[in-house]
Amino acid sequence: MPHSFFPSSLLRNTLCLAALLFASSATLAQNRPALDVPYIKTPSAVTERMLGLAQIGPDDYLIDLGSGDGRIPIAAAAQYGTRGLGVDLDPERTEEATAAAQAAGVADKLVFRTENLFDTDLSRASVISMYLFPEINLRLRPHLLQLKPGTRIISHAFHMDEWTPERHEVVEGRDVFLWTIPAQVEGLWRVEAPGHRNFVMRVWQQFDRIQGTAITADEHSIPITDMSISGPDIRFTLNTVDGRYTFSGKVDDKLMNGNGDAGAWSAQRM
Ligand SMILES: C[S@@+](CC[C@H](N)C(=O)[O-])C[C@H]1O[C@@H](n2cnc3c(N)ncnc32)[C@H](O)[C@@H]1O
Repeated sequence: MPHSFFPSSLLRNTLCLAALLFASSATLAQNRPALDVPYIKTPSAVTERMLGLAQIGPDDYLIDLGSGDGRIPIAAAAQYGTRGLGVDLDPERTEEATAAAQAAGVADKLVFRTENLFDTDLSRASVISMYLFPEINLRLRPHLLQLKPGTRIISHAFHMDEWTPERHEVVEGRDVFLWTIPAQVEGLWRVEAPGHRNFVMRVWQQFDRIQGTAITADEHSIPITDMSISGPDIRFTLNTVDGRYTFSGKVDDKLMNGNGDAGAWSAQRM
């Protein structure tokens, strides 16, 4: 039998199948979104601790950025009755998460959407969870800082550089971080203190670290110490010649109101 340069039918079929497989995997790769972070699941003990650190409850609205199979919002909904949203760039993950929410009986509490997390409207969130990369956390940071004071951010694995977390724990060798969005108080405030001891307060702020000084109507400078902000709650001590007065109160946009050692006080942004 003369030697043939044509492949046998078996070989021909194998080559055709290989070509088909190559073509379909190339098409799949083309259709797959380019992810900023690969899909890796958060272990359940870590999920539990993230939700615990955020002190999540039925009145919260959780947004999970890059929600994978939806395990964090599903755990929150199943255990705490929390409503929420999960967004993932990969439509396969959205399908998986939607099916998992149905299987867990919490589909009425959750929405999963195929969406780039940088396009997500975060304004409704009272808690945001994420298991992303440090550079993604840093890109998100300025947007997170604009959210409602008191909104909690929980991150598995990665921090946010010089924005020191309020809590950091290690669970099964994994880092878990919590931050609370502080009210934005940098600038000048006209403070009406009890007994008409009014002053202008200048505040400097970096994330949730604040410092301040007070200037009286006769232009005396009075040191302010022990200044802190946690969500909308502000606290500081005015060190006058006749004593130390601690003020605590709430920030509501351009107003502050509260009670201090000497009675009720308020402040207005100048
Ligand atoms: C490390 S996984 C975390 C999954 C889940 N949150 C968890 O903790 O188990 C990151 C997820 O982010 C998704 N992702 C990556 N880049 C994204 C982007 N730009 N927008 C939305 N989701 C993205 C990936 O598809 C993946 O499911």
